[in-house]
Amino acid sequence: MNLKNKTALVTGGGVGIGLAITRALVDAGAHVIIAGRDLARLDRVRAELGNVSTIQVDLAVHGERERLIATLLQRDAPLDLLINNAGIMQYFSLADDHALARLDAELALDLHAPIHLSTALLPHLLSRPEAAIVNVTTGLIYAPFGNTPGYSAAKAGLHGFTRALRWQTRGTGLKVIELMPPAVDTELTRRYDGSKTDPESVARALMHGLVKGLDEVRPGQTKALYAMSRIAPGFIFRALNKAADKTPLD
Ligand SMILES: NC(=O)c1ccc[n+]([C@@H]2O[C@H](COP(=O)([O-])OP(=O)(O)OC[C@H]3O[C@@H](n4cnc5c(N)ncnc54)[C@H](OP(=O)(O)O)[C@@H]3O)[C@@H](O)[C@H]2O)c1
Repeated sequence: MNLKNKTALVTGGGVGIGLAITRALVDAGAHVIIAGRDLARLDRVRAELGNVSTIQVDLAVHGERERLIATLLQRDAPLDLLINNAGIMQYFSLADDHALARLDAELALDLHAPIHLSTALLPHLLSRPEAAIVNVTTGLIYAPFGNTPGYSAAKAGLHGFTRALRWQTRGTGLKVIELMPPAVDTELTRRYDGSKTDPESVARALMHGLVKGLDEVRPGQTKALYAMSRIAPGFIFRALNKAADKTPLD
């Protein structure tokens, strides 16, 4: 995919992996719309990078997603690239009093939001000469953490949805890409004590995947996790969870 003069939406593009992706897209000549709740932070990114627009939205709320979709479809410059990046990850016990509310919040943002945006924007993206949907899941789809049950469920669900979407749109001009980052040094992993990579290396891997037209992008340790999950899935699940169990619950 040629990114020059394309228009992209990056959800959660104001910080972390989303910000690194936004920078990389702007560097490649794309215009980037960044969406999130913290408008002041988004506006600081716009002022710094230029060629960026901002939209304030709580993607966990169905009606706010509808408003975002309507705004995107009314824009003069049509959208070419949807990057479903915004996400949260909570460490909690399913026996916790607030477990159901936590599961609902995580499923709303990490699963329902990317499915909603992908499906509602699909007819528009199929009408573009060259377009892509990128769903950001995680290397943990190969060995889910037991202490992040909502996240594990949401990302596994998004992995399945992404494969189904790719299958249904095969033979069209739409590219469907799954980005599976390893542990990355961002606010999301502040409680996790293991080794972490930088957001920029994940963004570089995605740019490579977009240009080459890859289906799945597995940066850094995700590649090893994928290989291990095929050779010794039980071993890698136990080893990873023994390490992850050291992370305190929220
Ligand atoms: N960090 C990792 O190790 C890692 C590993 C694998 C996969 N990932 C995935 O990568 C993606 C980005 O993660 P990150 O590490 O960059 O996280 P992060 O630094 O915590 O950023 C999360 C982003 O999501 C946005 N967001 C959160 N709740 C939102 C809501 N209700 N509505 C709209 N936007 C919301 C935030 O913006 P506002 O606060 O402004 O709303 C922020 O921009 C996530 O999907 C995550 O699951 C991360």
